[in-house]
Amino acid sequence: MPSTTGAIALTDSFGRQVHDLRISVTDRCNFRCTYCMPQEDVRWLPRAEILTFEEIERVARVFVERFGITSVRVTGGEPTVRAHLPELVARLARLPVELSMTTNGATLDHLALPLKNAGLHRVTVSCDSLRPDRFASITGRDMLPQVLAGLDAALNAGLAPVKVNSVLVRGVNDDEVVDLAAFGRERGVEVRFIEFMPLDGDGQWSLDRVVPAQEIIERVDAVFPVAPVVPEASNGDRANGHLRPSRGPEPADRYRYLDGGGHVGVVASVTRPFCSNCDRVRLTAEGSLRSCLFAVRERDLRAVLRGGGSDDDLAGAIVAEVATKWAGHAIGKVNFVRPARSMSQIGG
Ligand code: 5AD
Ligand code: SF4
Repeated sequence: MPSTTGAIALTDSFGRQVHDLRISVTDRCNFRCTYCMPQEDVRWLPRAEILTFEEIERVARVFVERFGITSVRVTGGEPTVRAHLPELVARLARLPVELSMTTNGATLDHLALPLKNAGLHRVTVSCDSLRPDRFASITGRDMLPQVLAGLDAALNAGLAPVKVNSVLVRGVNDDEVVDLAAFGRERGVEVRFIEFMPLDGDGQWSLDRVVPAQEIIERVDAVFPVAPVVPEASNGDRANGHLRPSRGPEPADRYRYLDGGGHVGVVASVTRPFCSNCDRVRLTAEGSLRSCLFAVRERDLRAVLRGGGSDDDLAGAIVAEVATKWAGHAIGKVNFVRPARSMSQIGG
């Protein structure tokens, strides 16, 4: 790995160190998932407001050189609708980081190989239903076959490990937990069930629509028995008991199938927030730095980039924003304030 000596730790006021940068490369999406995008009156950012590839690369480089971050994830909107994405990936792949992408998979059929060749390491594909009609009603697009073909293309291209994100919404697709788990076992991909978060475009979220991680894993366990995986970075505390692994920096609680059928994860953002281990920050498509998915403030790095700022200026702005990172969100509590942006405008 190229040297990042001279890097200093990027640490917030609660002692958490930032290792992971999530870069939204566009706010646009070719899907209209109900839990994410507004269903009508979608407004895209004008092209001139979106960071250029040079600008994105520069911010990422400063994060690596100055702060030694070790992972970069490309997100959206839907990242693959950004023209010439493999070109950006090739630029980011020059940095000594683990490079991944979250995508809806619809265009992976033809993009998986170019992205792999450009230096992408791995992908996570979102898929919330294996029933074509339901998939169409959740995403607004009748494209389940394309997404499944995209998943296969990612596997064939060697974008390993390929993971699948499934957001569960009560009364919408929570009856598919076991089917989705079985699908992951068959394809050799890790399915991660995500609790529905209050970041949908239309403000339809409510606590009773969240399927708790504990319920999800119990339903999987009843058919395919699992045991928690203790993350290496954790203290190995097993006092949590069965079906409750200790926490590392990863958002997903991971489980292994006892029959050797691979792994499955749950992302319990609502019922068991992982804020105390959070090691990530986010760059929006127009170049604002967010220290939390739910942050109600952000810092305009684009102004620094386009105002002729130096790398020192950029690094200073990053340090200042990370210093504002709060202990964690308060979803479900009376003092919770929804961020003004929906998920598609932040990047997952
Ligand atoms: N709650 C939980 N997950 C969400 N995602 C998008 N919106 C939400 C939400 N409101 C997921 C997408 C994708 C990842 C980036 O975030 O399905 O897999
Ligand atoms: Fe980190 Fe914010 Fe997510 Fe909590 S809600 S884990 S602080 S990004």
